[in-house]
Amino acid sequence: MLRTNTCGELTDKFINQTVTLCGWVGSRRDHGNLIFIDLRDAYGVTQVAFSPERGEAIHKQAEELRPEFVVKIKGKVAKRPAGTENPKMPTGLIEINAESLEILNKAATPPFEITDNIVVTEETRLKYRYLDLRRSTMQKNMRLRHKACKLARDYFDELGFVEVETPILTKSTPEGARDYLVPSRVNPGMFYALPQSPQLFKQILMVSAFDRYFQIAKCFRDEDLRADRQPEFTQFDIEMSFVTEDDIYEISEGLMKKLFKGAIGIDLKVPFPRLKYAEAMSRFGCDKPDTRFGLELVEITDIIKGCQFKVFSDIVKKGGKVIAINAKGCGSYSRGQVDELIEFVKEYGAKGLANFKSEKGSLASQIDKFFSKEELSAIKNALSAQDGDMIFTVADKPKIAYDAMASLRKLFGKRLKLTDEKAFNFIWVTDFPLFQYSEEEKRWVSEHHPFTSVHPDDIGMLEKGKDLGNVRSRSYDLVINGTEIGSGSIRIHERKLQELIFKTIGISDEQASLRFGFLLDAFKYGAPPHGGVAFGLDRLMTLFVGCDSIRDVIAFPKTQKAFCPMTNAPSEVDEKQLNELSIKLKK
Ligand code: AMO
Ligand code: AMP
Repeated sequence: MLRTNTCGELTDKFINQTVTLCGWVGSRRDHGNLIFIDLRDAYGVTQVAFSPERGEAIHKQAEELRPEFVVKIKGKVAKRPAGTENPKMPTGLIEINAESLEILNKAATPPFEITDNIVVTEETRLKYRYLDLRRSTMQKNMRLRHKACKLARDYFDELGFVEVETPILTKSTPEGARDYLVPSRVNPGMFYALPQSPQLFKQILMVSAFDRYFQIAKCFRDEDLRADRQPEFTQFDIEMSFVTEDDIYEISEGLMKKLFKGAIGIDLKVPFPRLKYAEAMSRFGCDKPDTRFGLELVEITDIIKGCQFKVFSDIVKKGGKVIAINAKGCGSYSRGQVDELIEFVKEYGAKGLANFKSEKGSLASQIDKFFSKEELSAIKNALSAQDGDMIFTVADKPKIAYDAMASLRKLFGKRLKLTDEKAFNFIWVTDFPLFQYSEEEKRWVSEHHPFTSVHPDDIGMLEKGKDLGNVRSRSYDLVINGTEIGSGSIRIHERKLQELIFKTIGISDEQASLRFGFLLDAFKYGAPPHGGVAFGLDRLMTLFVGCDSIRDVIAFPKTQKAFCPMTNAPSEVDEKQLNELSIKLKK
């Protein structure tokens, strides 16, 4: 090594030792005769002093130093003069009295200072990601990510899991998002798909008797990006044979326990609570509830179904629901504040937001004349409203009413500061519906993926093709603080059941054989009962680090427009390349 020590390790124990350090120049401070620099490397920062007493030449050389120059400095470790120590820094008690300085490389003026509190756009950070990653927060994030991967690998290894890599150039798997396609030069007109997940391969590995598989797997999905989504992301991917849901929960809980303890020092209590999908919907309006706070939704459809407010009663007649929450202590909201909330719920498709103010032991509202005393009192009781509270309600198709109210619940959770920001609330959401009706395609589609097994009590319904919306699956999600961190299921291993599912979601034998014939073929040769789960590493890291954006835990992420400002990918390619691929672009 060109150095004897790193910039993060020198303390007063090293005083009088001669050391050589390498790193980047942080700030340079000229104090008349004395010049100080902060020398930075991956491990920390060390103060270096250049004094003319130790030679005019080296002092002159130090005047040349600019931010981000790469230097090698030899000198003696000295105690800092009394009053100039910085106890907050690990190296804050010492400085190096430089005896020699070698400039290993000069640097252009960086577009932003390499410090923790920078005020630049994310676009600039991503364009100069190599500089952004030099900052200590990003260094910490990436090192923590490395640690999480190492902990996971060790955990799986100890439990006899085998890491198997699955192909990146593959065939489209039915995960529900759009595929990224890769044209094949040697097979003109043919395309590979980048895997949305290793789903089919991990199931095939079960047929191959691997029994316990895991992989730190890259997944690719061409979907609309949000704060917690990237077009390529990483999963801790797991599959096991001869298991039930409980086995998967146990392995997953052990993994979380190990990761939380090892990465951020938090002891988790297992097993995690479980919540059936139907209950999650009725209490929280969504399948990934933030259970750090209450403020649960209350359905008041039955109470108001006979009321005189036609908007409500008509919606109920058409199968809609009326959902309410009690915003504690918000009874004095102004017209403007309420209007703002009306606009908020409209974004989720709601047509309005009625409000009832709890005062003088009763409910008052713009629309209270349409409700009987008994109805108002029943609403008040159902929501345990006290004077000073405000009840908000949306009446709509169930999906819209739940979506709007779940979002309103989250908004109040934040606004009323109901969440303990330090808490991690885990919950397994189970018993998801197997199918969802797609209005767009006018057919039933799989809620998870078509290889998800059916709840044993609901097989009859499935066979009769009746009440398909209520057929439950054997799938489960792991939710932490309102974020879906993991998802999986017990799979179908019997061919007959698989064929029935395909038939139900309108996939013909031909289509099935074209798209995943290889899996169906494999299942002919003795598929064991199996199941698995996958956890989103990037989302988990976001929780560990406590940042708002998934991009802060990925070394080279894409923007919301799936663009990389550093490499400028995606970009146009040469005509020659297109010709080789037999591709002609539409102008
Ligand atoms: P699923 O599609 O639910 O299941 O994905 C599993 C987990 O991966 C994470 N995740 C994402 N993270 C970042 N950006 C994205 N675009 C993104 N999409 C998903 C989430 C999610 O919970 N093969 C199945 C798993 C199985 O059945 O075993 C699968 O991929 O945290
Ligand atoms: P309107 O009769 O449209 O003036 O609405 C009277 C009140 O009922 C307003 O506060 C609206 O926001 C509210 N409202 C209208 N439609 C709905 C709905 N579908 N759900 C909840 N409140 C509604």
